[in-house]
Amino acid sequence: MCGIVGYIGEKPAASVLLDTLSRLEYRGYDSAGIATLYQGQIHAGKDAGSLMEVVAKQHLDMLPGNIGIGHTRWATHGGISAANAHPHMDCDNEIAVVHNGIIENYEILRQRLKGTHRFLSQTDSEVIPHLLDEYVHTGLSLEQALQKVVKELEGSYAILAISSREPDKIVGARRESPLIIGISPEGNYLASDALAFHGITDRVILIEEGECVVVTRVGVSIYNESGEKVKRAPIKTDWYHGELSKGLYDYFMLKEIHEQPAAIRRAVCQETAEVMAIAAEIRRVKHVVFTACGTSRHAALIGRYVFSKVAGIFGEVVMASEFEYFIESVDSQTLVLAISQSGETADVLDGVRRAKVKGAKIISLVNTVDSSLARLSDRVLYMKSGPEVGVAATKTFTAQLTLLYLLAFALADKYEEGKNQLTSVTAKIEESLVADADETNDLALKLKNQHDFYFIARGINFAVAAEGALKLKEVAYVHAEGMPAGELKHGTLALIDRGTPVVAICPHDYTFDEILPNIAETAARGAYVIGVSDKFESLFNEWIRIPPVPELFYPLVTIIPLQLFAYHSAVFRALDPDKPRNLAKSVTVK
Ligand code: F6R
Repeated sequence: MCGIVGYIGEKPAASVLLDTLSRLEYRGYDSAGIATLYQGQIHAGKDAGSLMEVVAKQHLDMLPGNIGIGHTRWATHGGISAANAHPHMDCDNEIAVVHNGIIENYEILRQRLKGTHRFLSQTDSEVIPHLLDEYVHTGLSLEQALQKVVKELEGSYAILAISSREPDKIVGARRESPLIIGISPEGNYLASDALAFHGITDRVILIEEGECVVVTRVGVSIYNESGEKVKRAPIKTDWYHGELSKGLYDYFMLKEIHEQPAAIRRAVCQETAEVMAIAAEIRRVKHVVFTACGTSRHAALIGRYVFSKVAGIFGEVVMASEFEYFIESVDSQTLVLAISQSGETADVLDGVRRAKVKGAKIISLVNTVDSSLARLSDRVLYMKSGPEVGVAATKTFTAQLTLLYLLAFALADKYEEGKNQLTSVTAKIEESLVADADETNDLALKLKNQHDFYFIARGINFAVAAEGALKLKEVAYVHAEGMPAGELKHGTLALIDRGTPVVAICPHDYTFDEILPNIAETAARGAYVIGVSDKFESLFNEWIRIPPVPELFYPLVTIIPLQLFAYHSAVFRALDPDKPRNLAKSVTVK
């Protein structure tokens, strides 16, 4: 994870770096730092804490110069400390480096360098400035040195480096971690995600796997892995339609929950020909495998039910981090449907790369345009959710579901019917968001001192239980389990005691009559039952009312109050739901 940025141009670099970094904090917020170049010297500041805290402590905004690099960290190798924050320097403070990724062979490299170089951190990244220094001292330019260094690195990286000996350039390289160039008349930018350039420029150059770049005030040079110069014109991005401020909301998470009707409507607007082409690919193969992580995997689990119910197509869902252990079963008759908001999740990319080698077709559902996953795929459907800043996925989850519904209806030759149904369900979501006003807020207040929650459901609703539990865990730091209701009696029932909150997702659909006995089993043991349904049931101690919709579409409406409940639970515990501890939005490490 981690976010990196660079700037060279006419503006004061420090303010540009802090502005662009602030839009990448979703990638990590354990520590932050920047380095600028001014009058032949590197000026750097870094510390543990969020970007705003580090700016306040280290006065990063005062660093002089018109060229610099910056970093916001999600710790992997080495704890959260000032020493482990980036940028890292060589021994003479002549080279500064920021890195996103993991250098797998760093121990070997560190051992080799240790005799002649002084290491100040426990990070894998710190080997990079020292290696650069070695090559620069043989007479190579910074970019030539970087080309040599990356050949020695195993693992993943997006790297930016500046040197006081060559003060007119930023050099960069990437492999398996994203890096994008932004072009503007006032200067040139680099960042892990084009979101950093929001409001600055929409002209970008995508850097491909294995390439190195040199960015100056006036131009960009790109070199491929063999060191040959590559020509690439900037392209225009218009993928971030979304507003990047919280508007009237206290937190991005709440804003994004409320943006869901609009996000679903945008997701519904797909090129019919593309959806049909993907449906044709799905029909052609023997095996359909959904792969994803976290919330996106929950969307996949629901997609599996929808594919089966609407189109009679059976698909397996394989957790992306486990995908490699099934790779023997993948062949040219397999279609992998990879789902990822960021398109940069390392586990997903790894599974997809392995499946490609085995000849599988790759279709992806992605939010971030031109992300690594999108580029690896044979075909892509974009969620069009706009930027999702809150670390907890909300609007992209319902957008993913929308795409899965569209595909299922296309597979059943009922595409227009599917679109119409989605449109009417969206209106119901809109109404229920207005109607909720205080309901989930009051419930969250009432249950604020509870430490263990159980979310149960059946059939298509099971993954909603899992997602509701995940939301509560990640933003309110409350233990929560989501499970198929029928599984309770096989063990978990032992944990249900007087007052234990059990959230039953039981819309009035084909699962309703079957889940009632499971709810009764918990109530008999004293559970405090919160029913999420359009039908009242006397077993409920609390009733979260949802609007009735055609039964296939209940996941789109039942998830909304669970997201809101998690949000309010975080706020009542005085936590920032946008930045849960230990988490980052884009998980680019395995
Ligand atoms: C939870 C959450 C994560 C992500 C997971 C996959 O709210 O956001 O569980 O869903 O890290 O991320 P993407 O979808 O970017 O592959």
